[in-house]
Amino acid sequence: MSKVAVLASGRGSNLRSILEAGREGRLGSAEVCLVLSDNQGARALRIARDHGVEAIFLDPEGLSRDAYDERMADELRQRDIDVVVLAGFMRVLSPGFVRRFEDRIINIHPAILPSFRGLDAQRQAIEAGVRIAGASTHFVVEEVDAGPIILQSAVPVYEDDTAETLADRILRTEHRILPETVRLMAEGRLSVEGDRVRIKGELRFPGGPELVPEVTP
Ligand code: GRF
Repeated sequence: MSKVAVLASGRGSNLRSILEAGREGRLGSAEVCLVLSDNQGARALRIARDHGVEAIFLDPEGLSRDAYDERMADELRQRDIDVVVLAGFMRVLSPGFVRRFEDRIINIHPAILPSFRGLDAQRQAIEAGVRIAGASTHFVVEEVDAGPIILQSAVPVYEDDTAETLADRILRTEHRILPETVRLMAEGRLSVEGDRVRIKGELRFPGGPELVPEVTP
């Protein structure tokens, strides 16, 4: 079994997609053991408790980034967490934290990386006039939204889209690639070779195909 912690600051829809995948047996050997938030009012905390998962609020008030991340690392260590998932976690991680969990932290970003890093990726996509947008999962490195890419999925951008309508469409596809990424990660099917991720074994996407990298059998 791989013990997974999800870090989330807000709405928690990606967290919910992971927990539902777990209930439906789509997470392989992964088990979400902890949800941690820097925001006491985060809906993600409630979603976790509703699913019977331990949920903790860690108050950032008065703590430096390093001190906060040290506290987070302690919580994760105490529970022997193997994999850390950032699902709408609005803090930039310290280099020390990233190093400690090297190649074990994954993030979901609402754009086809390396385009549109950072905040408001969906608005950036609308402003750039792209015809195709999407989502990416990737390993976390010190630079924000810059680590090796794991899975990506694409959605069309329509003439009358706003940042909000596009964000909704992208979010639905986020909910497909993130749980699958957690499963691949937990089952040890991902390896990082330089800037590239190799995926071993089959990808599983109930309900249809996704635009994803080719895999080796
Ligand atoms: C998602 O769009 C995710 O890609 C981004 O933050 C948002 C979080 O949404 N990193 P939710 O809290 O999972 O609903």
